[in-house]
Order: sequence, then C-alpha cells, then structure tokens
Amino acid sequence: MPVASTSPPARPSPRNSRLRLDRSRRPDVTTVQSQTVHVPLDGGRAYDILVGRGLLAEIGPRVAALKARAVGVVSDETVAAQYGAAVTASLAEAGLRTTLIAVAPGEGSKSYAGFAQVCDGLIAHRIERGDLVLALGGGVVGDLAGFAAASLRRGVRFVQAPTTLLAQVDSSVGGKTGINSPYGKNLVGAFHQPSLVLADTASLDTLSLREMRAGYAEVAKYGLIDDPAFFAWCEANIAEIFSGGPAREAAVASCCRAKAGVVVRDEREDGERALLNLGHTFAHALERLTAYDSARLVHGEAVAIGLCLAFRFSARLGLCPGQDAGRVANHLALAGLPTRLAQVPGGCGDADQLLDAMRQDKKVRDGALTFILARGIGRSFIAPGIEAGAVREFLVEELG
Ligand code: NAD
Ligand code: GLY
Repeated sequence: MPVASTSPPARPSPRNSRLRLDRSRRPDVTTVQSQTVHVPLDGGRAYDILVGRGLLAEIGPRVAALKARAVGVVSDETVAAQYGAAVTASLAEAGLRTTLIAVAPGEGSKSYAGFAQVCDGLIAHRIERGDLVLALGGGVVGDLAGFAAASLRRGVRFVQAPTTLLAQVDSSVGGKTGINSPYGKNLVGAFHQPSLVLADTASLDTLSLREMRAGYAEVAKYGLIDDPAFFAWCEANIAEIFSGGPAREAAVASCCRAKAGVVVRDEREDGERALLNLGHTFAHALERLTAYDSARLVHGEAVAIGLCLAFRFSARLGLCPGQDAGRVANHLALAGLPTRLAQVPGGCGDADQLLDAMRQDKKVRDGALTFILARGIGRSFIAPGIEAGAVREFLVEELG
C-alpha cells in the first residue's frame, strides 16, 4: 500500500536544474515562498518555473525584472473577472504599460478567430518586439497567447501565469503553442518558449471541481508515463492535492520537474517528448468529434478517457497486465473523471469516425498511426506502425 507523504518521490532533475526555496530574488518586493524549477534550454532561452501560493500578488516586479516597457495581458473573460484587475494593477505599479485582452472562455477560443482577436488586440495596443505578452489563464489562453506571441512582429517574449491545474502541470511549460483547426487539435502552431512561468497554486482555489479533476488527469499521466512511485504517491495524496494542502504544490512542482526534464532532452519532439502524449491520440479525436465543445468534454476529461483506452488497448495487445489497466481506471474514476467512451455526453461517433479523426494526429507518419502504449504503470513507450485494423477492432469492442 502506498504511504501518504507530503513530498512526491524524488525524480532526477533536468540538467543544471535546481529546486529551492526562492526568497532571495528582489527581497524588497517579492516575499512569497516558492519553489523554482529551472528549465536550462540553450541559446539564451533558459527560464524559471515558480510554484507557490500567492505568487500572482507579486507578478508586477517579477515581470518587470524581464525588462519590458509594456505588457499585453491575454486572458479569458472568467479569469479576467477574477484576477485581471489585480494583475494589471500589479504590473502598472511596477511601471509597465499594461493592457488586457479577454477572449471567451473555453476551447472554442483556440481558433483562427480567437487568434485574430488576440493578435489585433496586441497590435492595436502597440505591443512591440521588446515588450511582453502575458498569458493569464488555463491552457487555452496559454496556447493561444503563446502562438500570438510567436507570430506577432515575428516573435515577442511571453510569460505564462497558469491558473488551472492542467496549465500549471503541463501546458504552461515546454513552449508548445497553437490553435485548433476544424480538421484537428493543435494543428496550427509554433514552438515558442516562455521567458518565465509563474504558477500561483492559490489560484486553483477558485477553479471549478470539474476543471480541477480535468487537470488531475495530466498529473496522473506523469506517473503513468515513467514514474510508478509518483502514481502511487498520487493515489495516497489525491485528497490533499484537491483540497490545497502542501501536496498540491508538491504535485505541481514534481510534474513541472518531470516535464522540464523531457523538454530539455527533446524540445522539438523528435523522440521521447512524444511520451507526454500518452492517451492523447484518443483524446484529441474525442475533442474533435465533440466539436471542441467544453460543455460536453474538456481536454482533461478526454485525456482521462484516452489514458484508460491506452492502457486497455495495451492490455488487449498482451503488452500490459489487465490489472494495471484496471488500477488506472479505478484511480481516475475515484478522481471523478470519465474512463469510458460511453461517458462522452452526446456520444463520440462510431469506430470509423474515431479512427478517421486519429489519422490527423501529429504523430502520424506516412499514414501509419503511432500510439503511446504501456507495458505497465510507469512503463510507457512509443509504438509506431500500429495496424488501423487492430485499433478499429478495439474501438468497436469499447463502444460495445
Ligand atoms: P481552459 O484554459 O479552457 O480553462 C478551463 C476553464 O477554467 C475555463 O473556463 C477558464 O475560464 C476557467 N478558469 C481558468 N482558471 C480559473 C481559475 N483560477 N478560477 C476559475 N476559473 C478558471 O482549459 P485547460 O484545461 O486549462 O487547458 C486545456 C487546453 O490546454 C487544451 O486546449 C489543450 O490542448 C491545451 N494543452 C496544451 C499543452 C501544451 O503543451 N501546450 C499541454 C496540455 C494541454
Ligand atoms: N503536452 C505535450 C507536450 O508538451 O509535449
């Protein structure tokens, strides 16, 4: 049985990385206790991920330290209503000219129209090359604002201030930015690393239970990929991750450390980084077939179903013990997440529609499907050249 403990098991840190209490920097204006995960990318692109309760209160001095004159804050209407005034006031107090652009909340804004709204808003407010874009919100805002920053005047720097669990543990780190196409998820985008990630874990106190659960799917994913001890720690500490005790910060920092390590080793996803997409080939197809409608399915819910499908598919292929697939589904169900295709509100199409949607996956090469499969919990691997027929049979069975 896993033993409850506040700290997740230690994981090797990325090259040159450090995890420390960060009370030294600008002590006059920044006093919140935080942990720092350093992402040591080359070419002057190294950056810090700060994780701590209350960090948004000192966003002004933290961003001002990056030496810009103006900041274009991109958010969604829900997050802007909750945190926009405080964040823009802190930035203005630190001497930065500040403007706020808010898109509609939800996956629908990660679109060509959303991209145009953000780019034109930034241009109208004269955000120049030396200035900064600040993404204040969840993964939708982070991906959208990051892509706008990558494109605006051929590239301006950006800062991530993630306010969902999903964004704090995954999307704000690693520089993948982009929007969806009617043909598929994240098909238009760019790699553009942030200059700073500031994850205020107290901002999760205002997140809905549904979105908290959705983000938890990505937390569990890190254990399922290559860290069975972390998965067991999650099983033991899930209650405190949700309630906001020290285990929440520990989980966020641990996931960021894991992701930073992968990104440093394989920034452009030539290999290992694809493992971070465990469950995502299925998930992205589900999101497309539910028309990116957050009312029906949000990304993390699709990932939860995708993780369960990846493990059951692995078990069906004789790669993974059925008992591990059961343990994954039990834990995600305990977290309140869907684990089966039948739980997609309004349905998700038939096996052929799902297969067709999967063919737009970015991991497809010469039309052949690549899946991330598992030999057990924490033992995932990249499986290229998977027969479409085998996937179809599995889906037919799952759709039952
Ligand atoms: P989201 O950005 O839509 O946020 C979820 C909802 O929570 C929104 O309605 C938002 O208004 C609300 N919200 C956000 N913060 C809040 C807060 N503190 N209090 C109250 N409400 C709050 O969704 P998400 O789950 O954060 O992100 C999903 C997106 O992230 C997907 O588009 C997915 O493809 C992307 N993603 C990207 C990467 C990457 O590496 N770039 C990785 C994983 C996921
Ligand atoms: N979330 C997948 C990645 O960043 O590569």
